[in-house]
Amino acid sequence: MLNKNVEKEMNDQINAEFWSAYLYLSMSAYCSDVGFAGAANWFKIQFQEEQAHADKLMNYIISRGGKVTLKPIEKVKTTWESLLDAFKDTLAHEKKVTAMIHHLYEVAEKEKDYASQIMLQWFINEQVEEEETAQEMIDALTMIGDGYGLYQFDKALAARVYTPTETEKE
Ligand code: FEO
Repeated sequence: MLNKNVEKEMNDQINAEFWSAYLYLSMSAYCSDVGFAGAANWFKIQFQEEQAHADKLMNYIISRGGKVTLKPIEKVKTTWESLLDAFKDTLAHEKKVTAMIHHLYEVAEKEKDYASQIMLQWFINEQVEEEETAQEMIDALTMIGDGYGLYQFDKALAARVYTPTETEKE
């Protein structure tokens, strides 16, 4: 049986993952609106990944005999100053998610919930990747500035495809 404190924190995390999904969907809509079709595709895939994160937590709670409780999703921003601004927001947001995951892990540790600690290691690793990717985007956009470079950057983002990892499918 899943520890009640862990269950509560995991349900909060499910909400945060869905909020993340909604944020990236909003960024995708913004990118479409301002003519960045490639970045719109990139953020749409990010939206799918965040839903997979929520799904992974939901499946885990159920597998441990816990109860999934879905909560309202808060509204998100709908516009940004630039693509760079959107990626800066992405990094800031992912840092917050990392802090939440670490907190969740600490609760599982305090409750001596070893299975949850092992499952959460996947999320800890994922957050390292998420922050690294956002930082790479910021670095690239800062370097290329506006103009043709930005056009090429957007074209490169159009190539991203959604590929659920084996772990996400579990
Ligand atoms: Fe689910 Fe972007 O962390």
